[in-house]
Amino acid sequence: PAFASNGSGTQTVDNIAHRGASGHAPENTMAAFEKAFEMKADYIEIDVQMTKDGELIAIHDTTVNRTTNGTGSVGDYTLEEIQQLDAGSWFGQEFVGEQIPTFEEVIDTYRGKIGLLIELKSPELYPGVEEKVAEALMERNMHKPNNKKIIIQSFNHASVQQSKALLQNIPHGVLAGTSWANVTDEQLAQFTTFADFFNPNMSIVTDELVDRVHIAGMKIYPYTVRTQEQANNLFERNVDGIITDFPEYVYRHPVKN
Ligand code: G3P
Ligand code: CA
Repeated sequence: PAFASNGSGTQTVDNIAHRGASGHAPENTMAAFEKAFEMKADYIEIDVQMTKDGELIAIHDTTVNRTTNGTGSVGDYTLEEIQQLDAGSWFGQEFVGEQIPTFEEVIDTYRGKIGLLIELKSPELYPGVEEKVAEALMERNMHKPNNKKIIIQSFNHASVQQSKALLQNIPHGVLAGTSWANVTDEQLAQFTTFADFFNPNMSIVTDELVDRVHIAGMKIYPYTVRTQEQANNLFERNVDGIITDFPEYVYRHPVKN
């Protein structure tokens, strides 16, 4: 983590590589996760969805249109079919041949090496996805309290609640888009019954919101930083982490060792 002065000592700020270091390599591919690891980010963020044959994979959109050379819905592909698509060339010719990785491949490669911020993406489309993620983690003994740096989050708060019931020792987070700008203390208190993080769109972050999230007992990792100025602004707001496409912006802040 980077250390920023907050006026009364130091504040640690976790550096979370959004979909991997997705400013430098095609999002949610092994190339992007590897880049984040090389850049010494604290976490990789992974968007998890499910194929037609029930396999967990890393991809953000619910269609393959933007980030591969294919078309159609993620859930209409089998794993074998979806892994034939090229998930790299849209980003740059040097990434030709990057595949959509399975969730298990990502966690087997990176567990214990870098933190994992796992997003259940559009879980309402994939009944049973919470159980599948829980099984994958439990099979590897990654659900124990001594396993640090694993967090599960979603915009679908019912899904977060379901996942927390399955994985009580793993910290969970609620993602909050701009419609949560006026979140009440009552709503924050309700979130704390199943969540440890309140992770908002950075455009709704104010000093007051950060304080209220902290008073409620949660941490706050805003998303998604794409400029140095945005990172610097959040450093001033006392946030606990920054979700960014460019991990270097989080480290560029004056570091106190
Ligand atoms: O981790 C937060 C962020 O990833 C949420 O937005 O659309 O990039 O998944 P999105
Ligand atoms: Ca995400």
